[in-house]
Amino acid sequence: MYTIADVATRNGRGGGPVWMIYKDGVYDVTSYIPQHPGGDVMLEEAGKDATKAFNEVDHTSDAAKILEKYKIGEIVDEEKKYDENGKKKKRVVAATDGNAPRSCMNRITCGLLG
Ligand code: HEM
Repeated sequence: MYTIADVATRNGRGGGPVWMIYKDGVYDVTSYIPQHPGGDVMLEEAGKDATKAFNEVDHTSDAAKILEKYKIGEIVDEEKKYDENGKKKKRVVAATDGNAPRSCMNRITCGLLG
């Protein structure tokens, strides 16, 4: 299991390893880069979540199969962006303060009284 920060350090700089995230999976694609039909553009996603970039290119299912060969692990549960069905999780919206409207009304009332 790796954190997003772990992956970010493998960004290929200085000829180092290149890791990418695809749907919460972690991939070490260092050795694949020279073989990539799309060339070095891949490096733009080095150390990052490449899910969007990968999908935008309309890669074939062959590309998805090749990708699976380079899987080295997964993103830690706390940082996962997809649920167990592979669906993108909804962003958790911070719970609103249940007392907010009342305290607002109190201020208006006090203001009027004052
Ligand atoms: C991460 C692992 C990746 C793998 C295993 C992979 C694999 C492949 C493969 C097999 C092809 C040939 C066409 C196909 O079968 O779809 C391809 C083409 C291409 N890929 Fe990737 N790709 C990866 C990541 C990326 C990323 C992150 C980008 C963009 C930033 C990218 C951009 C392209 C482009 C532009 C082509 C088209 C090249 C052309 O037809 O001239 N690829 N890729």
